[in-house]
Amino acid sequence: MKKFLYLLFAMAIVVGLNACSPDDDPVNEPPVENPGTPDAPDEPKNPDPNPNPTTGKALIVYYSFTNNVHTVVGDLRTQIKADVIRVEPAEKGLDYAANNYAIGSAQIQAIRNNPGSASSYPAIDPVEVDFGQYGTIIVAAPLWWSNMAAPLQTFLFHHGAEMAGKRIGLIVSSSSSGISGVESDAKRLIPDGNFLTPSLWIRSSQTSDCHSMIVRWLKETGFTK
Ligand SMILES: Cc1cc2nc3c(=O)[nH]c(=O)nc-3n(C[C@H](O)[C@H](O)[C@H](O)COP(=O)(O)O)c2cc1C
Repeated sequence: MKKFLYLLFAMAIVVGLNACSPDDDPVNEPPVENPGTPDAPDEPKNPDPNPNPTTGKALIVYYSFTNNVHTVVGDLRTQIKADVIRVEPAEKGLDYAANNYAIGSAQIQAIRNNPGSASSYPAIDPVEVDFGQYGTIIVAAPLWWSNMAAPLQTFLFHHGAEMAGKRIGLIVSSSSSGISGVESDAKRLIPDGNFLTPSLWIRSSQTSDCHSMIVRWLKETGFTK
């Protein structure tokens, strides 16, 4: 009987040692996906990149210094029904591009230095907007030094909060720079907007051919079916 007990004890040690062999080191095991806990929220079934169309009219808000965005908006207006606001700087006759874009550069730098302060933004002509009637707002902006042109940032600084929950489409015109900085500005200034994706980037050299790009973009974002 004693021998039998020794034998059992020896077998238990062997099994125990095998269970802790280095091959099973948990540190080296690949992470196992947790199949989910009862409390985990369900993933949406068919996530749509763009929010559902909301009711209400469309509004286009834009600024344009050398009229490329103005031309793009002119074409857009032949394709959708929308009210339009053109933002105008309060100080007239400034040449933002003179002296290697000195004034435009200084305005963008002031905003970058202190984006939370109203005094960082160049003054614009006052605009009255009843945002309640709009479900979709298309913001059309020139790019300045990788950012949204300063006067349009002023408009959004003052009115972005009123655009909460609305569908926001973004159109950006630049010579060549990519538009991610302008997208960030729009999201900072309209923190609760339902942004349509993708944004539409039209290089200044493409301005006169913008019609088909806008047709495609309106379909892609679900603005038109
Ligand atoms: C102050 C200023 C800064 C600019 N910075 C850039 C830039 O960094 N990269 C770029 O590709 N284009 C830059 N541009 C060019 C404009 O983005 C481009 O010409 C755009 O089409 C202008 O639109 P608008 O004619 O509606 O004003 C700049 C233009 C200005 C006036």
